[in-house]
Amino acid sequence: MSKSTLLRTRLLNFDGDSTAPSLDYCDDAVVSMHNGEFTDVCSAATFTRAGNNLDQCEDLRPALLLPGFIDTHIHFPQMAIIASFGEQLLHWLDRYAYPAERAFADRDHTETAVGRFLDNLYAAGTTSACVFTTVHEHTTDILMQAAADRHMALIAGKVLMNRNAPHDLLDGADMGIPACERLIRKWHQQGRLHYAVTPRFPVTSTPQQLNAAGELLHHHEGLYVHSHLAENHDELAAVAELYPEAANYTDVYVRAGLVSARSMFAHGIYLDDHERAAIADNGASIAFCPTSNLFLGSGLLAIDKLTSPAGTLAVATDIGAGTSYRLLATLSEGYKVAQLQHIGWSATQALHAITQGNAQALGLDQCIGRIAPGYAADCVMLDTHHNPVLHQRIGCAESLEDELFAMMMMGDERIVARTYVAGDALFSR
Ligand code: GUN
Ligand code: ZN
Repeated sequence: MSKSTLLRTRLLNFDGDSTAPSLDYCDDAVVSMHNGEFTDVCSAATFTRAGNNLDQCEDLRPALLLPGFIDTHIHFPQMAIIASFGEQLLHWLDRYAYPAERAFADRDHTETAVGRFLDNLYAAGTTSACVFTTVHEHTTDILMQAAADRHMALIAGKVLMNRNAPHDLLDGADMGIPACERLIRKWHQQGRLHYAVTPRFPVTSTPQQLNAAGELLHHHEGLYVHSHLAENHDELAAVAELYPEAANYTDVYVRAGLVSARSMFAHGIYLDDHERAAIADNGASIAFCPTSNLFLGSGLLAIDKLTSPAGTLAVATDIGAGTSYRLLATLSEGYKVAQLQHIGWSATQALHAITQGNAQALGLDQCIGRIAPGYAADCVMLDTHHNPVLHQRIGCAESLEDELFAMMMMGDERIVARTYVAGDALFSR
């Protein structure tokens, strides 16, 4: 963390919010990182005018440096079940997700998995994430420790479940709350880490457990809420049956005090206008997970109804129902989901979403999502040389927007050349 890095690069940041994002581009910039932060960011011309020598810089051009990608919803224990055939949500959980999560009862399994999980994020250009773990306390503990060791901004929490899941994955009479308290005391707001109260979804919690989860927010400042919302028709029917007193799915969470400015709900496909207003009024966010929504056949999110002021749209992979760790691949599928509904989604909007937009959704936009002095030195370098078809396409690009759109549609793992987390190159191709 104490070392200094000086890069000469094409540089891309994003300004504005999801309603009016814009590009902030420099084709010849110098970026300095020191002690885990960006210290100086300027044009090469300004750098030399100040008496500096460009020979000190590692010249990355024509590679493009962007803020590190932020994944607002991903499941750590579902690495092994990505691309598992043939089920929709509730059956998929029974057949694939719960068995995969059961394996994390074993500490050694968790210890082995955690390094691979984080390496998969960095190889995809992802530098921060909001992560589902399992019901086991040690899964969150081990993940937090690994993120702390890498100086990474990470949000995670123990999954809460006390009904409608296999017995060995259920919280007991204490409803998992003491384990949450211990994890909060140990990890919340330590360095770059935050704790998220993580009830899986209303199907697997009793109303008492949801209320107890909501109570935690009164006792600890700055906690996040991380859960699922309105993803699938059978799920909606189950929630309606289990919570007859609630006006709708979102109301289940509102009644438990779980809808706040730090709430991240994955999916939100089947919301009515009242629910979207409740999400927006409370400053909560919906994580759009297109690869997951297509893979599980869940449905098409109307992303045009979720931009401010109707609610904040975040973007996420949702591994392992999602099929790629890459947020670029997620944007590519998201574009197609939008196309099927005749909604436009430009490269500027989409790339803003996985950088500054997701930082805004998480309330972390003063620390991450931008390459500027004082921000954490989390960034990703994209280089198309090792993807010849994309490289040729970009050679014909008519504009920066056109180049970025081609990158978002065609950019595979070969274009992520390097990923810095807090100034350390944790991935390099
Ligand atoms: N709803 C409740 N649990 C899950 C999960 O693990 N994945 C997805 N996609 N939806 C869920
Ligand atoms: Zn999920």
